[in-house]
Formats: sequence, C-alpha cells, structure tokens
Amino acid sequence: MTKALADVRILDMTHVQAGPTASQLMAWLGADVIKFEPPTGDVTRGQLRDVPNADSLYFTMLNCNKRSITVNMKNPMGKEVFIALLKKCDVVMENFGPGVLDRLGFPWSRIHDINPAIVLASIKGFGSSGAYADFKAYENVAQAMGGSMSTTGFMDGPPLVTGSQIGDSGTGLHLVIGILAALHQRKQTGQGQMVEVAMMDSVMNLCRVKFRDHQRLGHGSLAEYSMSTQGMPFTPRSGNDSGGGQLGNAVRCKPGGPNDYLYVVVQEAVWDGLARRIGGEALATDPRFAKISERRKNQQTMWELLTDFASHHTKWDLMKILNEIDVPCGPIMSTEDLVNDEHVRGREMVVELDHPQRGQWLNVGMPIKLSDSPAQIERSPLLGEHTEEILREVLGLPEAEIATMREAGAFSKDPPKIQEYRPLREAG
Ligand SMILES: CC(C)(COP(=O)(O)OP(=O)(O)OC[C@H]1O[C@@H](n2cnc3c(N)ncnc32)[C@H](O)[C@@H]1OP(=O)(O)O)[C@@H](O)C(=O)NCCC(=O)NCCS
Repeated sequence: MTKALADVRILDMTHVQAGPTASQLMAWLGADVIKFEPPTGDVTRGQLRDVPNADSLYFTMLNCNKRSITVNMKNPMGKEVFIALLKKCDVVMENFGPGVLDRLGFPWSRIHDINPAIVLASIKGFGSSGAYADFKAYENVAQAMGGSMSTTGFMDGPPLVTGSQIGDSGTGLHLVIGILAALHQRKQTGQGQMVEVAMMDSVMNLCRVKFRDHQRLGHGSLAEYSMSTQGMPFTPRSGNDSGGGQLGNAVRCKPGGPNDYLYVVVQEAVWDGLARRIGGEALATDPRFAKISERRKNQQTMWELLTDFASHHTKWDLMKILNEIDVPCGPIMSTEDLVNDEHVRGREMVVELDHPQRGQWLNVGMPIKLSDSPAQIERSPLLGEHTEEILREVLGLPEAEIATMREAGAFSKDPPKIQEYRPLREAG
C-alpha cells in the first residue's frame, strides 16, 4: 500500500524529544527517515534506562520506523557523507543547540547551495533571532517561558508544568506542519526553504486562549473562574476550571483514590437534565442555578452538590450515568487505565512491538488516521543498524569506498586509521 509521504526522504539529525517526535510522525506518514546520529548515538538511547544495555524507552518510543546511520560530522570524510546525503534528501531536520550547524560548517545558505530543493526544518528554544536566540531549552523551560506554567495549577500554589509535553512534542507537531507546507510550496517553485519553529512560540500558540483571558481582564473580572480575578494584571492559574464558555471541573468520586475524579462540563443545554438527576425537581427549579450567569456566581455550591452525588459512584459508573443524559464528561484516566483501555487498544493508540535488545514493549500509536494509508508501526533502529545499507542503497557507494571511509574515521569517534583525505566521488 502506498504511503502518503512515500516519495519523501528525510535526513533526520534530531535528538532528544522535540525533533524525534516530529520525524517519527513523518515516518508514520510514510517518509523514509534516515536518523543521522553521531557515533555515540542520540543521547536518549542511554537515558532513563530500564533494561541494562538496551536502548531506553525514551529512545525507542520516539524513533520508530527510522533507519539509523552513524556519521562523525567532525571528521572530513563524515562531512562528505553528510553532503552526499543532503543531495539525496528532500528534508533535513535538526534541533541542535544555537549555532551548532554553523559551527559544523553548514549554515542554511550552504545547505541551500548544496541542494536548492531541500527543506531545512529546524527547532530552537527561542528561534534564531531576538534576545533569547543564544539560549538552549528543554521542555519545562519552554513551558515556563511560553505562558503555560504561570497559568497551570492553583493560585495559592506554585506554577506547575503539565504532563503533556507541549514544549517538545507540541513543537514537533508545529514543525511537521511547516515541513508539509514547505514541501507543498516546493511543488510550485522547485525550491526548498527553511522552516524554523521555536519551542517558546509553540507553547504560546498552545496557550492562545490564555491571552484571550489576559485581554478580557482589562474589561473586568472573569466570571467563569471559580476564584475572583478582580484587578488581576495577568491570566491566573485556574486550577481545573473549564477555561471556556461552559462551567467545568473535576469532581471527586468513589473510592477517593488519586485519580478517582470525573471531569464534568455543565453545558448550558444539559443543566435541566443534570439537575433533575442529582437533585430532582427542587434543584432544577432552584433560582440560584436557573441561568448560567447564576450558576457562575454560585458555582462553588453547585460543585459541592455534584461532589456529594459523585461520592456514591465510581468515575466509570458516573461517566455512564452522565453520558445517558448527554452531559460531556470524562474520567481522569491514569496511564494504567489507558494502556488497558479497550477503546484505546481498539484505536491502536497503544501498540505492542518487539525489540532485539529489550523484547516486548508498548508504544503510543499514531493519532493521525489516514483511510488510504494507515500507519504501520515498526520498532526503532539499533545504533548504526543501517549505516552500510544507506551508504549502498541511497548513495550507491561500492564496498571498497565504504571501507576506506570507515578507516578514515567517517563513522566512529576513534581517531582515523588512515590520515590522508580522499574526497568521495560525486554521488549521482
Ligand atoms: C537539547 C539541547 C539543550 C541539548 O544540548 P547539548 O546536549 O549541549 O547538544 P547541542 O545540540 O548543543 O550540541 C550537540 C553537539 O554534538 C555535536 N554533534 C551532533 N551531531 C554530530 C555528529 N553526527 N558527529 C559529530 N558531532 C555531532 C555537535 O557538533 C555539537 O557539538 P558542539 O557543542 O561542539 O558544537 C540543545 O540541543 C538545544 O537547545 N536544542 C534546541 C532546543 C530543543 O530542541 N530542545 C528540546 C530537547 S527535547
């Protein structure tokens, strides 16, 4: 079956999370992704290891369906291999720290000269311009600086990071969108371009509605927040308030464990049915809750009534009860709940894979479902597993030349066995 991106070849220099999550999505959409690693490998191969001497889950879960080649970019022959691969690829992806590609001798202008049709897709913490451009970044730095942490948690507690990796994986999604747009434009112009996505910008984009509230504060307090926002100069942390036009909150259920909560949205249209179910006619006609404006004012009492009702039910039972009367709601699902959930398994959002070093393991599946070319998820590559295959198939190099390059140190961190520099023959 032809894949959507079957005609796209990617030179994937990304590492850690933000870049690899993007190139993994491109691979699942069908691109041939060549993971171009230093001889020591992507650092995450060895981070947070759970099985001795096996690639970590940190690595395996972000690098499926890729081929791995190890090349030493600080070796002249390694640079030649890189140049030859640039000529054979449609996209080159990277998320190095500021200035790394320039220091390796490959600024965008040179990459564009080598292959004018190639798209350079680049993630930086803060982009290539501005006061923060020289700073490195990790997930939580981006969450801190993009507005997420200041708006997450409760106002009487510290700012919190979210579990969703919006700084890394969220940035990766933005990068994929940029790459697809650049490839589309290339069909009209024949030219590649540089796609740059900053982690801070991506988090700001994902916090867009918080800037809606920031501006609304200039015109009065925010009635939907369960706390007072009177006179606040910035969007506060809003706990579990819905943050939208409808009231919502997490309601504690039986038996009261850490994830025994149901998130309930008290949508305007369902109040009557909900009120009748939890408090009968008396609650349905109670003037304190008759209109959404009244419910906003008295929401603390409303949540107490709902919590009292919920204390007799598990989150699963309550989900059923409320869905029967069309109330939008969702149990707080733990990772344990999710990996065993029938719906999740049915949608292949948890997939089982085999790995030569670690045996059976689970990956989160592909959330983008294409009817004509569904993703087929395959395990991540071992370090350098496809080095020779790529040199032979993609670059068309004969064995003797590969051997010479190996001796010249193109693929290892060890000093070269031969010192003389022999440029690669021009790869066709
Ligand atoms: C994530 C980050 C903080 C990690 O920092 P780091 O571990 O110091 O790594 P850097 O990317 O800065 O540097 C990589 C080094 O490996 C070298 N390297 C990379 N690929 C190589 C290869 N194939 N051969 C030889 N050397 C290689 C680079 O030349 C660079 O060396 P230098 O410092 O001498 O220039 C940094 O890469 C970063 O800020 N990236 C952009 C933001 C981002 O994506 N963060 C999210 C991470 S999930």
